[in-house]
Amino acid sequence: MDIVKVNTQQLTYDILIGDGVLEFGLEKLSDLLGKNKICCVTDENVAPLYLEGFLTALKKAGVETVAPIIIPAGEKSKNFEILQSVISKSLGIGLNRKTALVALGGGVVGDITGFAASVIMRGIPFIQIPTTLLAQVDSSVGGKTGINTAQGKNLVGSFYQPSLVLIDTQTLKTLPVREMKAGYAEILKYALINDPSFFDWLEDKGSGVLEGVVDLQKLAIRKSCQSKADIVAADEREEKDIRALLNLGHTFGHALEVIGGYDGRLLHGEAVAIGCKLAFDFSVDMGICPKEDALRLTSHLEKAGMMMRAPFDVDVDDMVKRMQGDKKNTEDGMTLILARGIGRAFVQKSVDVALVRTFLQKWIG
Ligand code: NAD
Ligand code: GLY
Repeated sequence: MDIVKVNTQQLTYDILIGDGVLEFGLEKLSDLLGKNKICCVTDENVAPLYLEGFLTALKKAGVETVAPIIIPAGEKSKNFEILQSVISKSLGIGLNRKTALVALGGGVVGDITGFAASVIMRGIPFIQIPTTLLAQVDSSVGGKTGINTAQGKNLVGSFYQPSLVLIDTQTLKTLPVREMKAGYAEILKYALINDPSFFDWLEDKGSGVLEGVVDLQKLAIRKSCQSKADIVAADEREEKDIRALLNLGHTFGHALEVIGGYDGRLLHGEAVAIGCKLAFDFSVDMGICPKEDALRLTSHLEKAGMMMRAPFDVDVDDMVKRMQGDKKNTEDGMTLILARGIGRAFVQKSVDVALVRTFLQKWIG
């Protein structure tokens, strides 16, 4: 079992990574909880696969549970209504301030459960058990929680760190290939931000990660978690232009997700992959990134079989308007994460919106 430590001002916690952690790694969870109970939140796809086994393993480990909460699967669930239902159900089953909410599932379950935990009784313990590759390498770590609104992605939420993250690579065995690729986009993102040698490694071993070679998956997950832990430790609340780097590809990507209406045609990770390509291509147009680096990224995305374009029509003005609604923007205008090359991302403020519009017109063709 691998351990990555996350040091934040709010909490210091461990990420345990291993094959079978959900069954064999519960000692840490039971140490953490003592006599306190847990309430498991999961979704309708994950529940039939893992809930019963997890509850049985918890019982064996001496951890008491209350009735689990099961939400509908998918991005459409990340809304006020489902958040409210999780909060009311939690309160209805009589939890107290020491009861932990456990998110068993992908990023959607994690983001909603974390948000609920942060506001129930002004904050109850929260544990992440991510079951998608995307959640294992990104969303379960670092304490961003939230929901989407009509105005955009993740516009309402909180910074609320989990007390523990348990990553069982066995859960990836049931994950559809499309979801694996969505998670791979976030792995690639760390390489593109500040780790060119990780990009070299992914060019060599990325197909093995996607095909389920356990040792390669574990290594990619550990490396991604360590990258995220380092960035979060340096800038927990995104105040110093460090954590914002994790948003590489996200301003373009989030706009596409909103335009797609979260109807399942474009997954978050797919939007991030397209967004990273756009960020690199735009950086080339701005004369700040060598063309070879953008081509290298495009060719890796193609080789990995990633989605390269949105599977629906995109209106440029609509896309620009959505990008202008992004949280990173300031009074000075649009902020984008751009790149001087692979592994050399940076935060660019006051981006000329007219240049973005011209670039997108060219992209849409
Ligand atoms: P998701 O939670 O919708 O999960 C994807 C699908 O896989 C769902 O249908 C789910 O039911 C299913 N699933 C989950 N685990 C499974 C398993 N082991 N086997 C079979 N099916 C399984 O999506 P996601 O890609 O995990 O997360 C995307 C969300 O995460 C987005 O809302 C995004 O904004 C958010 N996110 C948050 C952060 C953060 O820092 N908080 C970071 C990145 C992404
Ligand atoms: N995924 C963006 C962040 O955690 O900051």
